[in-house]
Amino acid sequence: MSRSFPDGFLWGASTAAHQIEGNNLNNDWWQLEHTAANHGVQFSGDAVDSYHRYQEDMRLLADAGFNAYRFSIEWSRIEPSPGRFSRAELAHYRGMIDTALGLGLTPVVTLHHFTHPIWFGERGAWLGDGAVDAFCRYAEHACTILDGVEWVCTINEPNIVAVNHGQQRRLAEGKEYQFVGALPDPEIGQALIAAHRAAAPLVRAATGAKVGWTVANQALLPAPGCESKHAEVRHIWEDMYLEPVRNDDFVGVQSYTSQLVDDNGVVPHPDHPDNTIMGWAYRPDALGIAVRQTRDVVGDVPIVVTENGIATPDDSRRIAYTEGALTALHEAISEGADVRGYLHWSLLDNFEWGRWEPTFGLVTVDRETFERRPKPSLHWLGQIAQANALTS
Ligand code: NOJ
Repeated sequence: MSRSFPDGFLWGASTAAHQIEGNNLNNDWWQLEHTAANHGVQFSGDAVDSYHRYQEDMRLLADAGFNAYRFSIEWSRIEPSPGRFSRAELAHYRGMIDTALGLGLTPVVTLHHFTHPIWFGERGAWLGDGAVDAFCRYAEHACTILDGVEWVCTINEPNIVAVNHGQQRRLAEGKEYQFVGALPDPEIGQALIAAHRAAAPLVRAATGAKVGWTVANQALLPAPGCESKHAEVRHIWEDMYLEPVRNDDFVGVQSYTSQLVDDNGVVPHPDHPDNTIMGWAYRPDALGIAVRQTRDVVGDVPIVVTENGIATPDDSRRIAYTEGALTALHEAISEGADVRGYLHWSLLDNFEWGRWEPTFGLVTVDRETFERRPKPSLHWLGQIAQANALTS
């Protein structure tokens, strides 16, 4: 049985600058990695040296049959100190866009993927005076190299940024880290919405691109008897991160697993027999739930699956997971969801925010020699991309 995807569907893989480039010396993550109280996180170091090897990386993707690549621009390279923009780094990212276009890969470009320049952090990050203006100034400069780019994400996973920065704020205020059930910090959430609302029209006007943001969707399900709490928590997340983009050009869905809501809030599925390296429940069907829940809020706004994948050393498990996720996605599309693409997380095994053990990649990288070795999943998914259909 062949299950086709819509014409023009984007098939690609996603990455983020700090996770693959190496030596992002001027951002907050590098700073965190190198402080004494770094909470035991590992170093990104040279990462997988994609800063110098992006052409090889994109060629692997194109040769395998894909037609899209999502990557991010590293703000701290473009603007290492306030108001001083690096022409050389802008040219570097222009080179990436040209390479993608030359290989027939539609670039999907993210402006902010979890990292910001150290100077922005020193000014209070998203809660600092002038945060929105600073982000818009960066976005304006980024626009000077975005000619030919059709898809731009302003901020990746604002809901996770608001959880993580909210936790940092709790620590700074002497409160305890909240391991389970942490909700996004509403003040930081509002600041991110303000930044998106200010930057998106600028980018749209300057480039003509479709502009949206990409949201982590946990495919929340109710624990038995907790339906009203589930509805309440879903509304908090959706009002904050999906309602604001109801008039945008697209919204990105990022889905890995499903979580439960019980009376304490969001909790993992208990005793799930089949967890991934991340400790997340193995739930390929979560993608279908996430797309349906997103469509219920954003209506006609087109959806792109901007991340979906699994951290596993067993590539046959990656293939099984992805096949399950694509089956669920196909069902959601058959029911009417306007989904324009599927971008797998990730192209390369990479720096998973303080850890090297979780391997999400379609390609493994020797971290001594930086040799790239495609896994069977790269070719398996590339064949689906070429057929634009699930064929089994
Ligand atoms: C979402 C984030 O955008 C990405 O940076 C991260 O590596 C993946 N989830 C997996 O945790």
